[in-house]
Amino acid sequence: MKRVKIFAAIFMIVCICITITGCGKSSNPENVNSNSDSTNSVAENSTSQSDTKKNADSSDGNKIESVSENKDESQPSENTKKTGTDVLVVYFSATGTTKGVAEKLADVTGADIYEIIPAEPYTEADLNWHDSDSRTTHEQDDKSVRPGIASDKLSLDGYTTIYVGYPIWWGEEPRIMDTFVESYDFVGKTMIPFCTSGGSGIGSSGDNLKNNAGSGKWLEGARLDSGISESELQDFVNSLK
Ligand SMILES: Cc1cc2nc3c(=O)[nH]c(=O)nc-3n(C[C@H](O)[C@H](O)[C@H](O)COP(=O)(O)O)c2cc1C
Repeated sequence: MKRVKIFAAIFMIVCICITITGCGKSSNPENVNSNSDSTNSVAENSTSQSDTKKNADSSDGNKIESVSENKDESQPSENTKKTGTDVLVVYFSATGTTKGVAEKLADVTGADIYEIIPAEPYTEADLNWHDSDSRTTHEQDDKSVRPGIASDKLSLDGYTTIYVGYPIWWGEEPRIMDTFVESYDFVGKTMIPFCTSGGSGIGSSGDNLKNNAGSGKWLEGARLDSGISESELQDFVNSLK
């Protein structure tokens, strides 16, 4: 009988221990915490994923915003100096010659200046006119090609006189100039084409630009020498009046 009591007591103790251990698993705060931690981890993960997404969204948003800012024509372009003048010099230059003349012209006229930057820059190979398979040869062969422009969109508000400069390629304006003139409304503005070249005159390029633009009062314009002086530029400007 005494043995039975001892056995019963041991059995009770074992049962109590098992009960305590079993319940302890679910009631242990550490375990709850660890469960909750792991839940938080998932939440954190999901939060950080959503943060990542939010960040991605916001950076995308910013990108979209900055693109739309660029497209907003009421915003002045970073390419212009915003001096309040009503004269603007716009130019494209592949190797720097037209750029030099455009900058001098802007100085002489007190104009703002805007560079047409190609979305896909022209490499030396692209500019090889000896190569019948080069990019420029193909572009100039096809009057419908319109290379993209990377520069910020311009606001033409307040400008009444716009000089448009470019190099002569195969006797004409580079096709990117057609992209430019087709992107804007020149109503009420006097447009003056000017070019640099290895010797060719301005030819039909001014008329091509005028026809593709479809607006603006286009003057005949001129070929300007790469080494033109400021006084010669002033003579050119005066000759337009
Ligand atoms: C593809 C290509 C075609 C050209 N075609 C002519 C041309 O028909 N007549 C000419 O006199 N010069 C031609 N040139 C020379 C450029 O007009 C001249 O070097 C110009 O001043 C370059 O201006 P930039 O440095 O502003 O690009 C050509 C140049 C290139 C790259």
